[in-house]
Amino acid sequence: MQVYDNAIYENTKLSDKEIPLLSALKKYSLRDISCFDVPGHVKDQGVDVLNNYLGNHIMNMDINSSPTMDNVSNPNGIINEAQNLLAKAYKCDEAFFITNGTTQAIHAMILSMIRPGDKIVLPRNIHKSVINALILSGGVPVFIQPEFDEYLGISLNLDFNKVKKVIEENEDAKALFLLNPTYYGACTELKKIIKLCKENDVLVLVDEAHGAHFAFHDELPPSSMELGADMSAVSIHKTGGALTQASALLVNNKNIDVSKVRQSINMLQSTSASYLLMASIDGARYNLVENGQNQLSEALNLSRYAKAEINKIKGIKVVSTELKHNKGANFIDETKLCINTKGLNLTGFEVYDLLYKKFDVQVELGDLYNILALVAIGTTKNDIDKLIDSLEQIAKLFAKDGIVKQINPKQITPEIKLNPREAFYMEKESVEIDKCINRISGESIMAYPPGIPIVAPGELITKEIIDYIKTLKEKEAHLTDMKDKSLKTILVINDKDK
Ligand SMILES: Cc1ncc(COP(=O)(O)O)c(C=O)c1O
Repeated sequence: MQVYDNAIYENTKLSDKEIPLLSALKKYSLRDISCFDVPGHVKDQGVDVLNNYLGNHIMNMDINSSPTMDNVSNPNGIINEAQNLLAKAYKCDEAFFITNGTTQAIHAMILSMIRPGDKIVLPRNIHKSVINALILSGGVPVFIQPEFDEYLGISLNLDFNKVKKVIEENEDAKALFLLNPTYYGACTELKKIIKLCKENDVLVLVDEAHGAHFAFHDELPPSSMELGADMSAVSIHKTGGALTQASALLVNNKNIDVSKVRQSINMLQSTSASYLLMASIDGARYNLVENGQNQLSEALNLSRYAKAEINKIKGIKVVSTELKHNKGANFIDETKLCINTKGLNLTGFEVYDLLYKKFDVQVELGDLYNILALVAIGTTKNDIDKLIDSLEQIAKLFAKDGIVKQINPKQITPEIKLNPREAFYMEKESVEIDKCINRISGESIMAYPPGIPIVAPGELITKEIIDYIKTLKEKEAHLTDMKDKSLKTILVINDKDK
């Protein structure tokens, strides 16, 4: 029997057509269904601690697929409708819901297009998920060193001319992988690069983990799907308003075998993908389409106000559009505030910690010289004023004489000795860190965030790399992914197995 609690349901003014999945999920949660399927809690019965801490509403909506609720592995009902609306919102041909973040979208994107031995051109400042996708697919990386801002000590995006040279030198390259934007908001000349790739029969695959909002405001950098890229992985959860882990894989299907993409997603996606996450994409998409322009205008205004105010604090400098004087930063996402703290003689790691521990302010990351603050849809003027006040206090109470010493004036370009997949399957041994110079790394080591490997499996370890890792350790960066968390040793390829 179908019983709707109309009193609750009437709160929702939107139609099934506007939010097909979210609306169906709500209706389903209000039906008086006797459940003999998974999940093993029967809606909000059985696990009181979860009801109490998460709320009955959430527990009622935590369901699995059923005849009316469609199935993400082979959608032909409301999930299909919701995915079509997502594709329309991003002006592309197809969209797939992804419930394990852009990590999974990147894995599926590369797995579906890159066969073992295929060359893929990509910047070195990629997220670890890309290296892992190459382990899965057996692709061969051809790295391009991104541009670099020496003062901030951060990698930017790719310079068009470098991309052109590498594409021309690698006629057999199958795809170019790009970031739009970098973690710090720098975008390259995507339009020109896409044209170049089309002329050379090279696919354009884009990591838009930090650009889910681009398509919804004209003062933000252009989004890759509108410009005709072949595929894009977007973290709708990062800057689009969906629940954490909710991402999408977007496709322009002219050069893409969409059935292969679907197959790859199904290999990597749970057969019990979370409806809460998928429905949150549906709701976030609706919001971006309906309210994105206004909400993002507000975010941009707040961000510009924050920049002006923070720049008045002695020792601190906010850098956004100024990055454009560099190559590889042709467009900038101004909602990302890169706040340089060198002049306080405090590292970004220290300021990140002070903001969190002493002022209840959480920013996205701290690195050696900067913190990164994201102004999102929903950020308020009060939040911004709290950030400004806290930085003023930090400058007053904690700044030290002098300036943070520049430690890595150049970016490190490790030499590739083995493909990531070859390195992954080889025998390895743990070797004392100082004895690893000239050995091939068997693991990734990175500061997280941003999650960009300092060294990846298959790359040659140099003294420069070891010194940089030691510096990060000394400055208490959050180093991850290595076997020995103390970093007294590094996992390297066993010499006998080379
Ligand atoms: C550039 C970049 N790509 C991909 C990812 C992975 O995204 P997700 O956290 O949605 O899996 C991240 C995560 O921080 C990222 O920074």
